[in-house]
Amino acid sequence: MHAISIHQFGGLEELNYKKQPRPQLNTGEVLVKTTAVGVNPIDWKTCSGGGASGFISEFPFIPGWEFSGVIADPGDTDFKVDEAVFGMIRFPQPAGCYAEYIAAPAEQIARLPDAVDLTMAGGLATASLTAWQAVFDKGALQAGQQVLVLGAAGGVGHLAVQLAKWAGAHVTGTASVHNHEFLADLGCQHAIDYRNQSLNEYTNSMDLIIDCVGGETGIGALPCLKPEGVLVTLPSVTKEQVIAAGAAQRRRVEPILCEPSAEQLKKIGELVADEHLKLHIGETFPLEKAAEAFALSQSGHVCGKLILTFNQPG
Ligand SMILES: NC(=O)c1ccc[n+]([C@@H]2O[C@H](COP(=O)([O-])OP(=O)(O)OC[C@H]3O[C@@H](n4cnc5c(N)ncnc54)[C@H](OP(=O)(O)O)[C@@H]3O)[C@@H](O)[C@H]2O)c1
Repeated sequence: MHAISIHQFGGLEELNYKKQPRPQLNTGEVLVKTTAVGVNPIDWKTCSGGGASGFISEFPFIPGWEFSGVIADPGDTDFKVDEAVFGMIRFPQPAGCYAEYIAAPAEQIARLPDAVDLTMAGGLATASLTAWQAVFDKGALQAGQQVLVLGAAGGVGHLAVQLAKWAGAHVTGTASVHNHEFLADLGCQHAIDYRNQSLNEYTNSMDLIIDCVGGETGIGALPCLKPEGVLVTLPSVTKEQVIAAGAAQRRRVEPILCEPSAEQLKKIGELVADEHLKLHIGETFPLEKAAEAFALSQSGHVCGKLILTFNQPG
């Protein structure tokens, strides 16, 4: 099978598109023939020696934690051949999803409803699980509450806006001006141009802030929290900084590490099938162009998600 792999940590030049052995199944695993995978910042951070690189003990390393595809071999599980599935698996341990075949723990994947596009679903799991866990598990969002999403046009942000809206919250988002119409379509009541607008008018007004940007941006939003509010900060690399600033201002900050969950994926699949949730695809690339997708993701201004597709299984 073809896969993207690296033999050492480094820049985009380390990404190779070449043949690798198909993975072997262990107990409780299925073999998935991959249709699409999503590109997440953690993928290029890890390949460059940051992100989840501490969990990698051998090379070649095949990046990627999320996918969509069809069951090629159900192993000893209840799945059936040709069933459509999607998932985020093994995170933060290596999962090898940038490959034409993936061995996936059955308990971490979900069947995809017929109404949901299989290619789009390749980019759905990681961002939607992160958004779900930030909004509902860490944020305990209630209907009628005020939510601010920092980085609302990005992969996680645009799904967090929609989930918060679906739950009955009032949502404000930050993005560049050219993305404000997109934010309005997602359900944001207010869109803030983070380059030119201050957050002063939102002081003490938010029950929940979903911080998809981190660092000084997350810290700058802390005064927007109501005294009992919570800011959930996503980027691991700046979380200590944001937590420390929160403690100094007596504001609650929660870090997050996205966890696989078949149960949450099932609900997410249903929400997409019922058109309450929509994944916006920023751009699609063939798997062999993963380096181009990484470069675009590294720009920090992707709208929605980037997806890699698979055409020639072998
Ligand atoms: N802890 C976890 O488990 C976890 C899980 C998933 C992701 N993450 C992390 O969370 C972060 C976001 O992930 P993602 O997939 O959503 O990233 P992404 O899709 O690459 O985010 C891109 C978006 O960020 C926006 N942006 C950039 N700078 C901004 C700023 N200063 N203020 C507001 N928006 C800004 C851009 O908006 P404009 O183009 O409009 O400027 C763009 O739409 C990443 O650091 C990722 O590694 C962590």
